[in-house]
Amino acid sequence: MLDKLRQEINISIGEFLSLIRKEYRLDLVNPILYESIREFSLRPGKRIRPLLLLLSYLGYSKAGKKISRSVYNASTCIEFLHNFMLIHDDIIDHSELRRGQPTMHRVLRNTINCPDPDLLGINLGIIAGDIVYALAIDAFLSIKEDPARKERALKYFIQTAAFTAMGEFVDTVHGVDCIGNVQEKDVYLNYSLKTARYTFDCPLVTGAILAGAAKKETDRLAKFGLLIGQAFQIQDDVIGIFESEETIGKSILSDLEEQKKTLLVAHAYRTLSPQKRKAFLQIFSKTPKTIADLEEVRAIFLSSGSLAYCLEALGSRTLQAKKILDSLTMLPRYRQLVSDSLFQLFRQSEDVARRYGIKT
Ligand code: IPE
Ligand code: MN
Ligand code: MN
Repeated sequence: MLDKLRQEINISIGEFLSLIRKEYRLDLVNPILYESIREFSLRPGKRIRPLLLLLSYLGYSKAGKKISRSVYNASTCIEFLHNFMLIHDDIIDHSELRRGQPTMHRVLRNTINCPDPDLLGINLGIIAGDIVYALAIDAFLSIKEDPARKERALKYFIQTAAFTAMGEFVDTVHGVDCIGNVQEKDVYLNYSLKTARYTFDCPLVTGAILAGAAKKETDRLAKFGLLIGQAFQIQDDVIGIFESEETIGKSILSDLEEQKKTLLVAHAYRTLSPQKRKAFLQIFSKTPKTIADLEEVRAIFLSSGSLAYCLEALGSRTLQAKKILDSLTMLPRYRQLVSDSLFQLFRQSEDVARRYGIKT
């Protein structure tokens, strides 16, 4: 069922883009504009966000409701919001790879021969991102639903875009701030705004609002999404240090290069002895960094207990989330599918835990 839904979502992304080609004539401006957005959008991904939107919508609709193409098309809105955020994020983070392929600004460096292709790529990447945000809202409008529900859901969706950008703001400030100024509560605020809201909370709540779920239920879904989102982001930071480049689809040094203030980092800083803290800071602030630096940082996170601490924080959040999930009035079939699709997401942190002999 989940694979079938994913397949349909992919079809919808392609179909929606074909429609856009006709409606917006992006290719008339420059073929690379349309082609790069299409290629970027169709890169293989988990499609977790549209999937959750669909499952929530179905879970709060009458049993046996058929999903029309317009619903699939609308579900892609959250994937386009994701892509928009990623395109800009990769510029901010100077990232070269996204989903194992060149980032959008890197693709757009080749738009035309010029003396400063890097700057061209960045400028055009910002613009492509703006377009993809417009496509996200356009995709949302595809759904044929009660106008009052649609308006409420759209407001939630647009607010989500603002919250995510606020998260990016916090994240960017953290990036240049001293470690000592970024405490664990700040890290969690960042996780909630930057990841949890748009990845889990928004698709679930938006789907539920569209299907007419009660406010009490959407509040529960938001809480659930927040917990899963925090857990997911903790995993992201853990695998950003302890996994392979192949698994994470980007440079294994990128989190360190960005001096990301993750939960790992905040915990290590708080608990290390002054001497070890100094040594840690020295590596952490070095540029550029090498694989040997990464190995040292890994050893520090292991000896400080930071990896175990993060995996524990991750586990307690997924457990609390599970309890909320069990209390939802969503149709049991879809509740189970939400559970299955989310459970699959945490395999990577389980792998890391196993590899380092940490019980979760
Ligand atoms: C990207 O954040 C999340 C958003 C765009 C909101 P990060 O910079 O932390 O994630 P990756 O490592 O590029 O995927
Ligand atoms: Mn990034
Ligand atoms: Mn970032």
